[in-house]
Amino acid sequence: MLAIAIAAPGGPEALVPVRQPVPVPGPGDVLIRVAAAGVNGPDLAQRRGHYAPPPGASPLPGLEVAGEIAAIGSGVTGFAAGDRVMGLTNGGGYAEYAAVPAGQVLPIPDGWSLVEAASLPETWFTVTQTLVMRAGLAPGMTVLVHGGAGGIGGAAIQICAIAGARAIAVVSNEDKADYCQNLGALAAINRTQENIAERVMALTDGHGADRVVDLVGGALTAVNVAASARGGHIVQISTLEGASATVPLRTMMAKDLTLSGSTLRPQSAATKAAIATRIRSDFLPALGNPDWIKPDIDTFPLAEAHRAHAAMESRHHRGKLVLLTAFGAGEKAS
Ligand SMILES: NC(=O)c1ccc[n+]([C@@H]2O[C@H](COP(=O)([O-])OP(=O)(O)OC[C@H]3O[C@@H](n4cnc5c(N)ncnc54)[C@H](OP(=O)(O)O)[C@@H]3O)[C@@H](O)[C@H]2O)c1
Repeated sequence: MLAIAIAAPGGPEALVPVRQPVPVPGPGDVLIRVAAAGVNGPDLAQRRGHYAPPPGASPLPGLEVAGEIAAIGSGVTGFAAGDRVMGLTNGGGYAEYAAVPAGQVLPIPDGWSLVEAASLPETWFTVTQTLVMRAGLAPGMTVLVHGGAGGIGGAAIQICAIAGARAIAVVSNEDKADYCQNLGALAAINRTQENIAERVMALTDGHGADRVVDLVGGALTAVNVAASARGGHIVQISTLEGASATVPLRTMMAKDLTLSGSTLRPQSAATKAAIATRIRSDFLPALGNPDWIKPDIDTFPLAEAHRAHAAMESRHHRGKLVLLTAFGAGEKAS
């Protein structure tokens, strides 16, 4: 099969097409004939040599795929060859076939193409695990979402909408602000022009954000504390601007705040299966609504994965970037 390997840690040019044997699904796995594979921030970190695959995972990049079941490993029930599915991989998504633990595989939402479905698993699993299951997202909450026009941000905005919470997105320009509001955000803050904490307080009549989804870190941590409501919870998903921060501890104590951090990839198979169960019950029905607004998707041929990485690093995109195999070439993107 065609796959994309990381020749050596480095820039987008480190992604090279290779020919490899089709993986054999192990016990508990299904083999997916990949139509489309989503591109995510962690893929860039892996390519740079900063996010090693967990033990036993494929060294190939790629954390999410959609396609058809091609084969079934021992002990797997509930799937049949030819089923159209999407899955959270432990690696190896940038390939024409991927072996995926069956507990991390979900049906395609009604009305979604395989290209569109490939944009979902990594970000929806991440936000479900952190914002929903750990930080207890509840109806009526206000959630500050940094990087609102990206993959994680878009998933957070839409999960808030389904959960009956109000998302306030943080973006870098008006085009991305419009995009976030179209996805369902109550408001968008342009971080290049506005004071984030002041604007959150104004938008919430002085209450603040009950939850914060942050992928920036560094100096923004103090802003998140200032923008938080009493009893708030800041969910740290990445540290794009700094892995260390000065935290105003007295304000954290006075506001009774929680700051938690997590990465999805090293989580156990049982945890990932529990997240999948939650997505299936709480979110898939809403995603299948014919009026649902899907994320913007730009597509690239699998062999040109390096172009997709360069596009993500340019930070001009809205929504998701997805790689297409020859099998997925006829699928439509939103
Ligand atoms: N913890 C986990 O398990 C987990 C899982 C998935 C992803 N992640 C991490 O989450 C991050 C986002 O991933 P993604 O797939 O959503 O990427 P993405 O689609 O490229 O989105 C990132 C968004 O953040 C904004 N942004 C980028 N750099 C920024 C900065 N320095 N300051 C403020 N905003 C910035 C970008 O827009 P503007 O620059 O225009 O604002 C962009 O909209 C990555 O670092 C990724 O590694 C973590």
